[in-house]
Amino acid sequence: MKYTVVLTADYPSVAREILAGEFDVIEHPTEHQRSEDDVITLLEEADAAITLLSDPLTRRVLASNPNLRMIANYAVGYNNIDVDAARDLGIRITNTPGVLTEATADLTMALILAVMRRVVEGDREVRTTGQCVWEPLHLLGTSLQGKRLGIIGMGRIGSAVAERARVFGMSVIGVRSGEPLDELLATSDVVSIHTPLSAATRHIINSTTLAKMKRGAFFVNTSRGALVEENALCDALESGHLRGAALDVYEHEPDVSARLIRMNNVVIVPHIGSATEETRAAMARIAATDVRLFLRGETPLHVVV
Ligand code: DGY
Repeated sequence: MKYTVVLTADYPSVAREILAGEFDVIEHPTEHQRSEDDVITLLEEADAAITLLSDPLTRRVLASNPNLRMIANYAVGYNNIDVDAARDLGIRITNTPGVLTEATADLTMALILAVMRRVVEGDREVRTTGQCVWEPLHLLGTSLQGKRLGIIGMGRIGSAVAERARVFGMSVIGVRSGEPLDELLATSDVVSIHTPLSAATRHIINSTTLAKMKRGAFFVNTSRGALVEENALCDALESGHLRGAALDVYEHEPDVSARLIRMNNVVIVPHIGSATEETRAAMARIAATDVRLFLRGETPLHVVV
């Protein structure tokens, strides 16, 4: 009997190449806002599936198909999955750690540079006016050299950001998950967050923690939007307490707050931390290889549950 593997999105072709032939592969087009019922329908015939970080894999979804034995989440983060339910139901969960560290750290640096040196504002200005003007006081940003970067979450990605920031002449203060934030918040010129989203870390950046940040500091997020209470961040930016923010992720993805969109001192990109050809292909290879290992009765390499 051939096992059925459901792909819930258009993943890089290497995923299909690894799985096709040995398994029946059912592919679905990418969709960003699926309900639990949508995912239940998609997974009806699945023995295993490769899923998107926006697919809600709740207890109800995981329990809906008794044949479902494995989920390979196409992301390092797995806050879209009820891991306790997966454990209870005996469903193996894997993710794609490691291969997106450098790409995400690169994008974090790109965002730090973009917001501190006002790159996007400058781009917008040239496109709008059709002119490049040089003036002594025009579009002045902030130098990275000599500034302090505070990294919340010194795991793989946070450490890779620290390494890059030091090359730009920044000093780094980092905390690991669960460590106190006060000194970091009070002394950093830029705060960048690199921590997984969980019940304990949801809204870890809120009006209280934002108020503890240095006046005129910048905030950067390439992790998960719901780590931040977005309205409080908008308040801090609008009041001038923060000088700018650069965001790859949003509290209510795929929606982005109109307040953020309106602000010139906010750089906003659409969750592209891991979006390089090389990284996305590597993620697909990891997810599909783990599915193949599991369905062959072997142990997958990147086990969460
Ligand atoms: C992840 O892997 O968790 C990213 O957010 C998407 O690549």
